[in-house]
Amino acid sequence: MKKTIIVYGSTTGNTEVMSQRVEGVLRDSGMDVTLKEVRAIAPEALTGYDVIIFGCSTWGDGELQDDFIPFKKKIREAGFEGKKAAVFGPGDSMYPQFCKAVDILEQVLKSCGADMIIESLKIDGDAIFQLNKIEKWAAEVAAKI
Ligand SMILES: Cc1cc2nc3c(=O)[nH]c(=O)nc-3n(C[C@H](O)[C@H](O)[C@H](O)COP(=O)(O)O)c2cc1C
Repeated sequence: MKKTIIVYGSTTGNTEVMSQRVEGVLRDSGMDVTLKEVRAIAPEALTGYDVIIFGCSTWGDGELQDDFIPFKKKIREAGFEGKKAAVFGPGDSMYPQFCKAVDILEQVLKSCGADMIIESLKIDGDAIFQLNKIEKWAAEVAAKI
């Protein structure tokens, strides 16, 4: 069975809610899935997985969530050729750089050779009120793994 990991960074818990729903849907689909906070994992550990999913909120003026910044700096050494990948994250469309962290991580994964299997999911506002949208996206991910 393909091994999937969801790595997320969350300051106030919104990305965490999204991550737990994505994990739940993948697990219910029979997947071997691991959920990790980005501050608890090094990029080298991703080599042991077939599918990499990043969840990251956007802070500052279009920047990655704090815990993702040191992780991203080390990521290029990891190399993701042959791996499948997807990205999701919440943001707030009142900011000019809406969900920019999602775009940044998508580019990082692509430039490291990963195969993006689905259009990235951007959630505007609280994830808790948009679980249907998150579950639908996760079900599409499961179908593509
Ligand atoms: C100071 C500050 C800056 C933010 N900057 C952005 C931004 O540039 N783009 C965006 O889409 N959302 C921005 N947001 C909204 C957060 O991404 C949003 O609150 C998100 O749900 C936080 O998720 P988290 O709790 O998982 O970290 C910002 C929020 C704050 C408080």
